[in-house]
Amino acid sequence: MRIPVIAGNWKMHKSVAESAAFARELLPSIAEFDGVERIVAPTFLALTAVAEALRGSSVGVSAQDAHFEPQGAYTSQVSAAMLGGIASYAIIGHSECRAWLGETDERVNLKVRAALTCELTPIVAVGENLRQNEAGATNDGISAQVRAALQFVEPAGMSRVILAYEPVWAIGTGRNASATIVGDVIGGCIRKTLAGLYGDKIARQVRVLYGGSVKPDNMAQYMSEEAIDGALVGGASLNVEDFSALVGIAAREKPVRSKA
Ligand code: 13P
Repeated sequence: MRIPVIAGNWKMHKSVAESAAFARELLPSIAEFDGVERIVAPTFLALTAVAEALRGSSVGVSAQDAHFEPQGAYTSQVSAAMLGGIASYAIIGHSECRAWLGETDERVNLKVRAALTCELTPIVAVGENLRQNEAGATNDGISAQVRAALQFVEPAGMSRVILAYEPVWAIGTGRNASATIVGDVIGGCIRKTLAGLYGDKIARQVRVLYGGSVKPDNMAQYMSEEAIDGALVGGASLNVEDFSALVGIAAREKPVRSKA
């Protein structure tokens, strides 16, 4: 049984005070929905305030990155080890980190392993750019990213890993990938790659999300695809009404899994 997930990646939005206020406002608006894992990923600066505002609730807190070394001369970075007691998740390998911060497959792998060692759930983002997409190279590229990210990750660790398929061309563009295409990439490529690495059982158990211009008005399409377990959401997660609508749609569209 795969519990659906709605994860809000706030990127570089919201001050500390705005983040904490959002968290407090979110709680009553999603209280009625069961069976959906809900996660918010504020900036590092706001993590503590948001964790405090959400303490004792069912909403998880995620970092937007996590360095693999526990400490060291890495100006601007925050380690997976430092997030202990504050965040339970860390987004790793987001395409904006790959593009802006020179994140490599090798470092993504080190971060995934560090996150698991530090008992964080890594939300590992993979995705092709427009050029790869137009060249018909999506599946090869995605499969390579998944294999690189999970190198040396033991089967036992996979019960905590969440993957997110985020085509770069769909992020923040309003040009979302169709649910059928996403279902094919996740079912036909990502789960096949996982099956090759870990066997069919684990491939069926790992949660795989879609991200890229997800909004309340297109969310139901994604949830109707068997292979898709939820969404990693940027823009629409910045608004309480949209965030709670997304959680409500996930709860409604995947009721069997939610209650099983
Ligand atoms: P948007 O939902 O704004 O397209 O962002 C998606 C994303 O990058 C989530 O990590």
